[in-house]
Amino acid sequence: MNKQVCEGTTIYYADEGKGDNVIVLLHGFCGSSAYWDDVIPLLSPHYRCIVPDLRGHGQSDAPKGAYSMEEMADDVLNLLQALDIAKASLFGHSMGGYIALSAVQRHPERFNAFGLIHSTAHEDTEEGKEKRLKAVSTIETEGITAFVDGMVPGLFAPQHLDSMADKVIKAKELGYATPPQGAVGAALAMRSRPDRRDVLTAAPLPVLLAAGEHDQVVPAARTFTADKPNIRQSVIGGAGHMSMMEAPRELAEVIKGFLVFAAV
Ligand code: MLT
Repeated sequence: MNKQVCEGTTIYYADEGKGDNVIVLLHGFCGSSAYWDDVIPLLSPHYRCIVPDLRGHGQSDAPKGAYSMEEMADDVLNLLQALDIAKASLFGHSMGGYIALSAVQRHPERFNAFGLIHSTAHEDTEEGKEKRLKAVSTIETEGITAFVDGMVPGLFAPQHLDSMADKVIKAKELGYATPPQGAVGAALAMRSRPDRRDVLTAAPLPVLLAAGEHDQVVPAARTFTADKPNIRQSVIGGAGHMSMMEAPRELAEVIKGFLVFAAV
């Protein structure tokens, strides 16, 4: 892993592959750059892949207090600036997608294209906001391990819990390693994020929306939108919320196909 201090925040990141054609992969809540371990070798022969540990996660700084999607997106924008990368294609898994939307909304000129992977441009429902507060309370009272043990099984398609037990364990171990104050800060950031559906059409960029057939966290109906010429929508067959682990080849093909569509 590489390390960069951006505006006082230390961000660790993987940097694989070479060339001017850069893609950035953002992981989801209680994950890390290692969520993308199976996808990076499939994309890095074609693209330079920058894969950060987001604020509050992995080895990156995890300050105390509520975060915002803007702050988390600024970490990514600052990292790209520090690496002298003027333009990239940005893909976010779930929470990473919420961060991508904030980055693209404010700085479309820094991107060639972007994608939401098992994510949504909708804000949390009222019930969802309540669940965030419960998550914070569980993390603070029972600890990150109990919280992650409750969360991770729901991330995978039910049929994969046994057949991909090694990947379920990996997702749990990455979750256990999340600093509790980082998980709390990020949960509160997700709770306070606004609806950003207009970014899908207002940003003058090609957009990928990818959904897992069996995603129980962000169902396809919350990922997909009305057909628009700039938007490409794909279902990853058989996958739950974790296609980067459950179906890495299919996801890599979807991303590569989208980048051809986007003429990147
Ligand atoms: C994630 O995987 O990042 C989270 O499940 C997203 C969410 O809870 O909205």
